[in-house]
Amino acid sequence: MKPTILVVDDEELVRWSLRQRLEAAEYQVVEASTGEAAIEHFRNGVDLVLLDYGLPDTNGIDVLMTLRSIDPDPPVILLTAHSSVERAVEAMQKGAYHYARKPFNLDDVAVLVERALETTRLRREVRSLQARDRETHGFDKVVGESPEMRHVKALLRKIAISPASTVLLTGESGTGKDVAARAIHAQSDRSSGPFMNITCSALPETLLESELFGHERGAFTDAKTQKKGLLEQADQGTVFLDEIAEMSPTLQAKLLRFLEEKAFRRVGGRVDIRPDVRIIAATHRDLQQDIAEGRFRADLYYRLAVLSVHLPPLRDRADDIELLAKYFVDRFNREFHRSVRSVSRQALKMLQTHPWPGNIRELRNAIERAVLLSDGDELTIDHFQFICPPQQAGKKDGDFRLPPGGIVFQDLERELMVQALERARGNQTRAAELLGMTRDQIRYRIAKFKLNDSEKVGHISER
Ligand SMILES: Nc1ncnc2c1ncn2[C@@H]1O[C@H](COP(=O)(O)OP(=O)(O)OP(=O)(O)O)[C@@H](O)[C@H]1O
Ligand SMILES: [Mg+2]
Repeated sequence: MKPTILVVDDEELVRWSLRQRLEAAEYQVVEASTGEAAIEHFRNGVDLVLLDYGLPDTNGIDVLMTLRSIDPDPPVILLTAHSSVERAVEAMQKGAYHYARKPFNLDDVAVLVERALETTRLRREVRSLQARDRETHGFDKVVGESPEMRHVKALLRKIAISPASTVLLTGESGTGKDVAARAIHAQSDRSSGPFMNITCSALPETLLESELFGHERGAFTDAKTQKKGLLEQADQGTVFLDEIAEMSPTLQAKLLRFLEEKAFRRVGGRVDIRPDVRIIAATHRDLQQDIAEGRFRADLYYRLAVLSVHLPPLRDRADDIELLAKYFVDRFNREFHRSVRSVSRQALKMLQTHPWPGNIRELRNAIERAVLLSDGDELTIDHFQFICPPQQAGKKDGDFRLPPGGIVFQDLERELMVQALERARGNQTRAAELLGMTRDQIRYRIAKFKLNDSEKVGHISER
């Protein structure tokens, strides 16, 4: 098929001469004399654009930016009468492939066009190789070869490539719902689009609403400017709604409306917005029970659960423990510059019989600590002394006793935050894990207790 080239210029003579030259080189040419017409043609699909800077209704840079937001692929060559370097630089920064100064030599333009098309072809080829690569390696972060995990991974793969717009992930805390959500996104044809996540329990209702749906300027007192919500920002990508059971009834209703009508309005907005997003919701709670107790909408549940995947607790897939242990040993070897080669048989046996109430997260933390404590090349039972004996594990409550005089809960919460951040040397992800929280929950509390300014905690990293 002949490549189609869109020539945008308000001067008929320029369009005509470009057409003659390009058609002679076996290209198909379409013409536009305004920015608006150019955008229209572009939407129908073209392979390359020659774009004049000075257009009657707008300028080339603005058109370029619109084209880039529609499709980042086809190369755009900007034609400019000015010999300003700044303009050329700006054009390249905004995503132009190249620029040509008017008056130009037609042969030079033809060479530029040929080169640009060749670059795009190569880029496409690389991308399709990467996609094939993803197919084989995309799930390498979801470790597990037990029958249960094979089943889960097969399901995740099918869901990833399906056009389904909603997915529900269930499973106890630490079973890998986050990991699964990312794998679905990475395997889907949305993988080059954004992956945005938000934890429903981390924010108060009104904030969560404007985070998700955005708001118009003046929608409420603090709405000084218009803001796009995550659903809009994640257009062509995926939104991961973690801890969905924690969403308020009002927002549940609003989310349901979006899932059914594929449209929503920003807070205070009057126009329907229709982003193309996939929603992956997750919860560690039993939603059926929440429905029975009136905390979760049954209709939303049925809408979300059309495609659902349950991540089994680690105690039900002891087969995976050896593999996971090796995976984490490798990872922490690298991170801490250790050289652990193996886990002793006795230690492995202990790991395989431990009930892991905190699932993979708990196993990961155990290995992390053992690798840190290690001095030789084998992890032995001694390195796992800190894991509570099986008969006590699973009993999560009761370890902490409320002092007779009671406590000030906020103080305790703040103190635990400070200690976790200190131990994690300011690394938010690590601190979140120490407290069994999500990063959003940690961030929310860092702001709440103003820990950013705290000397004791030191530098807090975004990681
Ligand atoms: N199959 C897996 N392979 C490798 N690592 C995993 C796997 N599942 C979970 N993990 C690791 O275990 C930890 C916890 O996983 P994750 O955050 O996905 O759990 P979760 O189900 O989202 O938990 P929560 O309900 O508490 O949010 C993470 O560090 C993650 O990298
Ligand atoms: Mg999670």
